[in-house]
Amino acid sequence: MKKTLIMIGAGLETVPAIRRAVEMGIHVVATDLNPQAPGFDHTGEAVIGCVYTPEKAVAALSEWAAKGGRPDGVMCAAVDAPHTVAAVAEHFGLKAVSRETAALATDKLAMKDRFKEAGIPIPWYREIFNWQELRDIQAERLETLVIKPVDSRGARGVLRLVHGTTEAPSPEWAFNHAAKESPTGRVMVESYLEGPQISTEGFVVGSKPYTPGFSDRNYEFLERFAPHIIENGGQLPSFLPEETCNAVKKLSGQAAIALGIENGVAKGDMVVHNGTPYVIEMAARLSGGYFCSHEIPWNTGVDFLGIAIKLALGETPTAEEMTPKFNRGVAQRYLFPEPGRVVSIDGVEEALGTDGIRMVEIRTGVGETIPSFTCHPARAGVVMGVAETMEQAVENVEKAVGRIKIVTER
Ligand SMILES: Nc1ncnc2c1ncn2[C@@H]1O[C@H](COP(=O)(O)OP(=O)(O)OP(=O)(O)O)[C@@H](O)[C@H]1O
Ligand SMILES: [Mg+2]
Repeated sequence: MKKTLIMIGAGLETVPAIRRAVEMGIHVVATDLNPQAPGFDHTGEAVIGCVYTPEKAVAALSEWAAKGGRPDGVMCAAVDAPHTVAAVAEHFGLKAVSRETAALATDKLAMKDRFKEAGIPIPWYREIFNWQELRDIQAERLETLVIKPVDSRGARGVLRLVHGTTEAPSPEWAFNHAAKESPTGRVMVESYLEGPQISTEGFVVGSKPYTPGFSDRNYEFLERFAPHIIENGGQLPSFLPEETCNAVKKLSGQAAIALGIENGVAKGDMVVHNGTPYVIEMAARLSGGYFCSHEIPWNTGVDFLGIAIKLALGETPTAEEMTPKFNRGVAQRYLFPEPGRVVSIDGVEEALGTDGIRMVEIRTGVGETIPSFTCHPARAGVVMGVAETMEQAVENVEKAVGRIKIVTER
């Protein structure tokens, strides 16, 4: 009998997960608030329901179930909705992350408290309630800090406050900017940890972690978009020594376990500071940005989405399936045109024709407005490619990016 999988979200970056499940012979029921969500073009059934409000998603899916629908699993991909996954799973008696894990994974403060308890290395952090507290912390700690909303995503409201520069924003502006991005108005500060930043992505199966996904992140535009922290893609395999990579992977697995993930996916934001790995954040869901759907399989041969889908259906993937088969070069870069109204887009064909390029996605159109880059969803497009080595992949992708001309006017 065909299995039925509920996919929470049907946006553009969820399409690969939906398509993989369909390929695996699974009946996919996707839920999204947007009736025009691109994922709906690929699913067996569409249920209109809010992705980020668990009760609303449960209500919409109960209505679907009342008409005879019966799910075997639930998951989300590229949307940060583990709490919705947990609620839907609980409602239908499916295997997924618990509500407690989902709550820890979507609240940066609760997560850090848990990591602290578990002895997981993390930056110094504290919740703050007004801008004066930020001012006092700056005066006391005399170091570069990060201020962020406790419960947002996509780098919204995340600011790097460099110590000892006159260009840093005022504590009042920074606090208000972070607070307005938090649905609950909560804000925290952390020490900014210098050092190579890494994305990890893996699985926990029967409380044992596997971390096949490992990418260096590219923050070349830290100054250009300051005080916002905007990532410009990444590349893999990592330039870090194998020993360091293994230490980061190990910590990533420990952090996933500390959050209570027993069977499921885990995605880490990690940093290697003075040679020691630290956790910035761990999500109990699949990545967006095509990391798990494209970059990891191109780099390792691991069918990452297929494994995540099996886990969501309560099946047990083998260790072999989760083990990298090779280590090819992969690179990803985003498009950052000058903010303004788009008057022309050229060079897409030429970019696609560049050696090793596998994807060029333009996320804007003539007549649309490019906002200033204050969060990740503002990025205007993405280019990805593969090569024998990481260095060659980066060169190819940067060449392709250079061929795309998005002209804007103010
Ligand atoms: N304390 C820190 N030290 C160093 N870098 C940090 C720190 N906090 C955040 N960053 C950088 O800023 C990025 C965004 O912060 P964070 O992950 O907390 O916010 P987010 O909204 O979840 O963003 P994203 O969706 O990109 O993960 C991190 O992935 C990391 O690169
Ligand atoms: Mg993050």
